[in-house]
Amino acid sequence: MRVGTSFLALLSLAFLPFSTSQNPSLDTNKISSRTLDAILQDCAFKAFLRPKTGVPYDTQVPTSLTGVMVSAMRLRSGSLRTRGIESYKEFQIPIGVVEQPYVERLVLVYHNLGNFSENFYPLPGYSYLAPVLGLMSYSGANLSASELPELDIRASDKPILIKFHDLKPAPLGSVPKCVCFDLHGSVQFDILLHGNVCATFQQGHFSVVVEASSAPSPAPAAVAVAADVGKGGGRNKTKVWIIVACSVVGGCLLLVLLSLLVAKVRRSKQGMKIQQLEWAAESNETLHMASIGGTKAPLAIGTRTRPTIENDYIP
Ligand SMILES: *[C@@H]1O[C@H](CO)[C@@H](O)[C@H](O)[C@H]1NC(C)=O
Ligand SMILES: *[C@@H]1O[C@H](CO)[C@@H](O)[C@H](O)[C@H]1NC(C)=O
Repeated sequence: MRVGTSFLALLSLAFLPFSTSQNPSLDTNKISSRTLDAILQDCAFKAFLRPKTGVPYDTQVPTSLTGVMVSAMRLRSGSLRTRGIESYKEFQIPIGVVEQPYVERLVLVYHNLGNFSENFYPLPGYSYLAPVLGLMSYSGANLSASELPELDIRASDKPILIKFHDLKPAPLGSVPKCVCFDLHGSVQFDILLHGNVCATFQQGHFSVVVEASSAPSPAPAAVAVAADVGKGGGRNKTKVWIIVACSVVGGCLLLVLLSLLVAKVRRSKQGMKIQQLEWAAESNETLHMASIGGTKAPLAIGTRTRPTIENDYIP
């Protein structure tokens, strides 16, 4: 309930980019990148009154997102597929891009997150050499719709290219890479092509990064390994000997234990045989058991040989 109302508050703020009072509740640290996509879609669609197809319309963003740039362009999906777009800001869209599901008109929304790039797309261990740029596609059927789901656009033959201008210089010895964030939150790295160009077959957010600690890290590691080898060579040898000796002794002990066990098993088998024989011999005469008090004792019912008086004894 509370989450819902605050989300609505955020969206209503997005609807009022020209409102003079800056509401502190639009905390950009607490908005997810997907919520930002929804806010920017609303902003971009608000820029259209009677859009001409193929013309980019730049728009305002809420004051708390100052520094972020948004633009929208409406297209016929047929012309996107057959002609592509030579250039839309940094993006170059080739022939053969198709959307799923099919719509007659679509809107491409462009994002430049500027100094908010790290806020919405934090990438620990890397630093950005360029702002994060986004390309998103929506159905253009209803330009007053909000919270639209994205269409799925795919390039088939040639990739969509993104040409970055004004890259920050990379630290000496580091290799700049393209980074791509798809709509499901997965991150992919790719090589940066000649002319600071990244290539993609789908929509999402893109930038150029370098590993933050790529230059200094290999040297200390190599030194540490070298030092270890120099110092620990003799120690390592003795370690190996100790391990070999231990395993030999352990193996011998195991062998002795095993042979003892085998002997014991054999003996107990013989014992069992003897017991069986004894039991067989005894079982010819079974005695009934009876409980007397707390103990069991063999009980003979009657006597086997009845006493007979041999001589009549008459006192
Ligand atoms: C980005 O820059 C604008 C001014 O250009 C500033 O108002 C805003 O606070 C900055 N945002 C961040 C996250 O640094
Ligand atoms: C366009 O979207 C708005 C807002 O969701 C809605 O009120 C309106 O009925 C929709 N128009 C059409 C033609 O679907």
